[in-house]
Amino acid sequence: MNSRIVDLEIKTDGRGKLIPLEYPKQLSFPLQRIYYIYDVNNGIVRGRHSHRDLEQILIAVSGSLKVRIKTPFSEEIVTLNDPSKGLYVGPMIWREMLDFSDDAVLLVLASHEYDESDYIRDYEQYKNEADSYFESHKEQK
Ligand code: TYD
Repeated sequence: MNSRIVDLEIKTDGRGKLIPLEYPKQLSFPLQRIYYIYDVNNGIVRGRHSHRDLEQILIAVSGSLKVRIKTPFSEEIVTLNDPSKGLYVGPMIWREMLDFSDDAVLLVLASHEYDESDYIRDYEQYKNEADSYFESHKEQK
């Protein structure tokens, strides 16, 4: 699938831990945007969309949450609860973020600026576009 867990290298010394994220050393794409999501109430599901081109890395810098990542062919739930793990999510992956703990802070690193025309928010529309996308990108299925 066009998503994977990325181990982020921790610089540890007697003072604590630090994780640098720099393109092209640790990041596979140059960043144009970051945002973070926190204070999410119980039972809330965020996301529920796909992007056509955007690449992202999701990191739970505090607390825990789950990410449901779906394609027309597969579905997986990933728990993020470790600031040294990133979830890379490539183009044409349907994602939903849920089960945020009270202290969860989800940091998102994004390859492009915010662009509503890159979003697919309707699942039926997503399935149609994803079928043809994965037909021409079979290696990412
Ligand atoms: P939304 O896409 O609904 O967030 P989520 O993916 O968590 O469900 O975005 C919430 C609001 O924030 C919406 O009004 C669009 C705005 N927004 C920006 O202005 N810039 C951004 O980079 C993002 C991700 C959202």
